[in-house]
Amino acid sequence: ELSRPDRRVGRELVCLDQVDSTNNEIKRRAVGEVPDGLTVVAGEQTGGRGRRGRSFVSPPGKGLYLSALLKPDCPLGEVPALTAWSAVAVCDAIEALCGVRPGIKWPNDVILEGRKLCGILTELELEAETAALRYVVVGIGVNISQTEADFGPEVAPVAISLAQALGRAPRRAEVARALLDSLDRLYAGFPQQREGWLARYRADCLTVGKPVRVLSGAGEREGTALGVEEDFSLRVAWKDGGEEVLSSGEVSVRGL
Ligand code: BTN
Repeated sequence: ELSRPDRRVGRELVCLDQVDSTNNEIKRRAVGEVPDGLTVVAGEQTGGRGRRGRSFVSPPGKGLYLSALLKPDCPLGEVPALTAWSAVAVCDAIEALCGVRPGIKWPNDVILEGRKLCGILTELELEAETAALRYVVVGIGVNISQTEADFGPEVAPVAISLAQALGRAPRRAEVARALLDSLDRLYAGFPQQREGWLARYRADCLTVGKPVRVLSGAGEREGTALGVEEDFSLRVAWKDGGEEVLSSGEVSVRGL
């Protein structure tokens, strides 16, 4: 039903009932020739992974757990933009399907009613010898019909599902189709349409103008987010003086 021979993202689509992590499954299937656009969707993840070593709650049938393999023709430095663009693509898909537009918490959490609706985990695979980019895995988890009990006491206060926010939930296949459409649009313009996507990201980004607490190797610091730079890093004015530009790999931002 979802097979898309005329598209790039999801041209080859694998649907599994259960997997450890759809990101892992992509990597297992990307031996030898790299299947550009390969997409894996699972009904349940037993080892769903989030950023910074965290896990991603992935109960059966409740969320969309999707990973796409992309092989963009761009310098390594442009790859972080793919994650940022993907967050905008998720907002597009949710808006098209549900009529509400979520926002983005920098760098790439998709937020509805102040809580996390979707997380994105991007992983890079490099050539062993040349360290050139082999491919990127963009892993996206959208909460569709989770209840408070599904999230558990730790996650529930900061997470939200479409069902909780809207009182109704679209079918997983509908969310998958809308997301594949918007990811395909993203990929068709990457990286040439960088200006347009940067503007769209900035318009969706909820973090700018807000107080932030930034956690890094150096500890926690407070400041205010001033804006998103051309390369999607975040400019912050520290409460105790000075400004700094933060890249997403280095820090975790609290607040919103
Ligand atoms: C985060 O919020 O820190 C990122 C969460 C990413 C979750 C998705 S679900 C599909 C893909 N497979 C994984 O193991 N993680 C991503």
